[in-house]
Parts: sequence; structure tokens; C-alpha cells
Amino acid sequence: MKLEDAVKGRRSIRAFLPNPVPRETMTKILKLATWAPSWGNTQPWEIVVADGAKAQELARLFEEEGTRGTAPRPDIEMPVDFPEPFKNRYMKLGKDLLTYMGIEREDKAARKQHYINMYKFFGAPAVIYLIIDGGLNVPYSCLDVGSVGTTLCYAALQEGLGTIYLAASMHFPDIAKKVLSVPEHKKIVIGIAIGYPDLHNPASLFRSDRVPVEDILRYA
Ligand SMILES: Cc1cc2nc3c(=O)[nH]c(=O)nc-3n(C[C@H](O)[C@H](O)[C@H](O)COP(=O)(O)O)c2cc1C
Repeated sequence: MKLEDAVKGRRSIRAFLPNPVPRETMTKILKLATWAPSWGNTQPWEIVVADGAKAQELARLFEEEGTRGTAPRPDIEMPVDFPEPFKNRYMKLGKDLLTYMGIEREDKAARKQHYINMYKFFGAPAVIYLIIDGGLNVPYSCLDVGSVGTTLCYAALQEGLGTIYLAASMHFPDIAKKVLSVPEHKKIVIGIAIGYPDLHNPASLFRSDRVPVEDILRYA
């Protein structure tokens, strides 16, 4: 696969087939991804894969929290609001996605179901958790985690797999740590759902747009 095809071909997948990802394939992807750059080559990431029964248990527990409307309590603080023009981009994504999926703005039940599906990893058979030690500097370690995370998305694409970064997967880190036997002092940065895309579902075909590069680029 050409690098340009990979960069342009990757998109967030929001509908997966239940077929499991063989652990051999998973390990191959993660082995490749760990060639990602990191600050001082510290490689601060720890990777814990929830697959099979563990992924199902997490999906069930998160669905319960989502249905109850429990407020997220992530280890790494999440943005609550965005200044413009970022807020507009955020709102546009939600609107474009729901429209593409045929969900009407007024259809509160369908919108809620979409958010519940998010807590169920959109049906993905596995979630890759990227974790850091509690003693690490958060902003810089998070840069490194983003580096390995995006690299693994491309490595997965090469294996015919789809991925999506899911903030929803780290809304309740205490639950994830208990299920995955992760010590309490570690911080869950993000989870990335992975699996074979359900290409019959529009949720796996949606493409987000980008602002023109001229809008964000300047040669000083
Ligand atoms: C840190 C991070 C967290 C994200 N969390 C979610 C999420 O909880 N739910 C979701 O549907 N998409 C989530 N996404 C996916 C973004 O919406 C997506 O990357 C963005 O819209 C660009 O689209 P693309 O990935 O298809 O190119 C997340 C992405 C990132 C980088």
C-alpha cells in the first residue's frame, strides 16, 4: 500500500463486523506501530488489548453507564468546550455524520442509540488501550501516545482492518482498569477500537472533511 493511499484511505470506522482480529495480526500491527517517534525515545506507552470476552464485558459495563447518563470521569482531562473556529468544526462533524447515517436531528432516540453504540465500540471485537505510567508528564506523554496511536491505525489499514480513536472508551477508566487488571496509578489515555469494517453500514463509509490547507498554513 502506498503511503499516500494509506493516509487518504484511513477514516474513522463506526460500524464493525463481529469477526475477531487474530492475535497474531494484532501483534504484527502493534509491533509495527511501536516504531513511532517519541520524546527522547522514552516510548512511554503501555498497550493493553481488550478482545473477546473482555471487550464484551467492557461494552456491557459502558453501555450501562451510558444508558444511566453517568458523567465521564477520565484520567486525562477532556475538553468541555472549544473556542471558534474549532467549535464550529466539532458541531459540523456531528451534523454531517448523523445526516450521512440518516439520523434526523429531531430523532432523539436514534441519536441516543448512536451514543450508546459508541460506548459499545460500534461493535468492534477489540479495543487497544494506550496507557501511561502515573509518574509521567501528561502533555508530552500524550503527544507520544498520539504518535503510536495514529501509526497503529495505518498499520491496521494495511491488514484490512478499520480503527477509530474513541474518547468514549476512556470515560470510565476505573471500570476499564478493573476489567483489564491495570494498576490504579496508571492513566488510560485513549482506547482505539479495531476490527473489520461493516462496509454495508453507512457509519463505516462516512468521510469527514478538512479545512483547506491555505487556511492553516503560513510560511513565516
Ligand atoms: C483523541 C480522539 C478521540 C476521539 N473520540 C471519538 C469518539 O468518542 N467518538 C467518535 O465517534 N469519534 C471519535 N474520534 C474520531 C474523530 O471524530 C475523527 O478522527 C475525526 O472526525 C476525523 O475523521 P476521520 O478520522 O474519519 O478522518 C476521536 C478522535 C480522536 C483523535
